[in-house]
Amino acid sequence: HLITHSVTVAGSPTPFEAAPEQSILDAALRAGQWLPHSCTQGTCGTCKVRVRSGDVDHRDSPEFTLTADERCAGLALGCMACPRSDVTVEPLGAVDDDTPHHPLRDYTATVLTIDEIATDTRRLVVELDEPMTFNAGQYAELVIPHSGVGRQYSMANPPSETSRLEFHVKRTPGGAATDGWIFAGLATGDQFTLRGPLGQFNLVKAQTEPAILIGGGTGLAPLKSIIRHALENDLVPALHLYHGGRRREDLYDVDYFTALAQEYEHFTYRPALSEDQWSGDDELSCAGATGMVTDVVVGDFSSCKGMSAYLCGPPAMIEAAVKSLKRRRMAPRLIFREEFTVAA
Ligand code: FES
Repeated sequence: HLITHSVTVAGSPTPFEAAPEQSILDAALRAGQWLPHSCTQGTCGTCKVRVRSGDVDHRDSPEFTLTADERCAGLALGCMACPRSDVTVEPLGAVDDDTPHHPLRDYTATVLTIDEIATDTRRLVVELDEPMTFNAGQYAELVIPHSGVGRQYSMANPPSETSRLEFHVKRTPGGAATDGWIFAGLATGDQFTLRGPLGQFNLVKAQTEPAILIGGGTGLAPLKSIIRHALENDLVPALHLYHGGRRREDLYDVDYFTALAQEYEHFTYRPALSEDQWSGDDELSCAGATGMVTDVVVGDFSSCKGMSAYLCGPPAMIEAAVKSLKRRRMAPRLIFREEFTVAA
């Protein structure tokens, strides 16, 4: 017999139930109630809530995200805390009501293809047992079979493709999901559980100013989804994609984006190599740049005023990009970012 607790989000008329080990965020998203969140692993703090009434178990909420003082003040991380009684919570982050939100659920994914596309990088394409609606830029959690452990990868396909999802996976030496699974035995026809959609990195609404998209390595995945979605729906007047890799063999989908740039006049593609030169006979030697991808962006734009940016990659790249874009007068509220998570 499962004892569930009821959770009410302040301001919402409909409470929902949370199972004993279920986080407040997971219960909310499955019930179709949106709560701000990003990493769902206790590291970003986006999901902070004030517990107005009732008790929660903070479980493994890290001190660097939720300090002892904050706990005493009645704050909790929605993605970590479980109710210990009926609770009422109030999100601290802004609830974006203009963005459509899609309920979280579990799907069964079947591997259609798995291919090596760049150094230590694989493209995984799966078919879901049922269509999943999501926003371009969101991610899913792939559950490693027999372990229950989930790893997060952004969808690289646009939301118009609801049943066939594409992921880009970079190998982490010794990683449970990569070396232990995706780069080990995973093969066509294999099935696993996939939870989604998650995260609030997205481009959904039409905008009047150009967007700059900067991806490092497999940080290209959510940007590919966003670009395809924006082009399909004519959402942005101009899109400028920058993809950074160390060497030429770290880049992928080069032909795809080159062709896309030929097809759409308002889409540009600029790959950047930080530790390598372009060879003269490379088809990309004209479009391609050399140096840190963020420096390349700074060199290309004297002002980014009014523009927006979508960033995905390792924390150091994101930090450098934010700094550069602010220097070029982009408004901080128009800079959207998705950081790579640590474990892979
Ligand atoms: Fe909960 Fe990041 S800390 S979503």
